[in-house]
Amino acid sequence: MSPPADPRTPRHVAIVMDGNGRWARRRGQPRSFGHRAGQKAVREAVEFCLRRKIESLTLFAFSSENWKRPDEEVGALMELFLRALDKEVEELHSNEVRVHFVGGLSVFNEALRTRMHAAMEKTGGNRALDLNVCVNYGGRWDIAQAARKVAQAVQRGELPAESIDETSLAPFLCLAEQPAVDLLIRTGGEHRISNFLLWQIAYAELYFTDVLWPDVDQDELARALDNFAQRERRFGNAGAQIARAS
Ligand code: IPE
Ligand code: IPE
Ligand code: MG
Repeated sequence: MSPPADPRTPRHVAIVMDGNGRWARRRGQPRSFGHRAGQKAVREAVEFCLRRKIESLTLFAFSSENWKRPDEEVGALMELFLRALDKEVEELHSNEVRVHFVGGLSVFNEALRTRMHAAMEKTGGNRALDLNVCVNYGGRWDIAQAARKVAQAVQRGELPAESIDETSLAPFLCLAEQPAVDLLIRTGGEHRISNFLLWQIAYAELYFTDVLWPDVDQDELARALDNFAQRERRFGNAGAQIARAS
């Protein structure tokens, strides 16, 4: 049996990768320039999690609300996802990373869907790190799709409606098979969730940094983990109970 995980190291880190547009603007460049630059930070984050033996990394790449952006920016992002899938999957696979795309995938064009499914299939047996890339994802969408599935289970007679509770709903939510999110990082200076994981961050520690996503490197991520290690996670207990247990 493997030893119990060190509670000062998160098992699951989630990141709102924000600030690409501002990073580009500061350089007098179009927003898409910032999105392209953000790819390097994604590589840094994956590398960091592999080195620290973090089990799951969940990245917010495109929210269900990001479709509101100008067509030109959305188009550039789709193009970028396509090229990133062609370019990065081989390397991720060789590093034993298992890739999941999380969100409403059916809205994407066929070229993207084919590549997303191929990447998930190819890397499905890997065990070093679960990399969840959230695209067309919204926390409310996630809860609604779980509610729909549980209602269907009730309709099929597999579950009495009266027995629906947190435990029976949880398996229908995205990322249910992975550890709960321990640490949620948001870059780019905003202090909000923006409809990212809602259910899954119920007891996550939150870490906000002003650093813009394209500038994030291993040192910045190490600072977030050092900060996490100082936190007292009480999960509703009284502080004294935690002190006694450790
Ligand atoms: C985050 O950076 C990336 C996506 C939402 C796709 P932004 O594009 O939101 O950058 P800012 O917040 O405008 O600087
Ligand atoms: C959240 O960032 C979405 C992603 C990082 C993919 P946004 O830039 O879309 O969030 P708001 O609009 O500032 O809340
Ligand atoms: Mg933003």
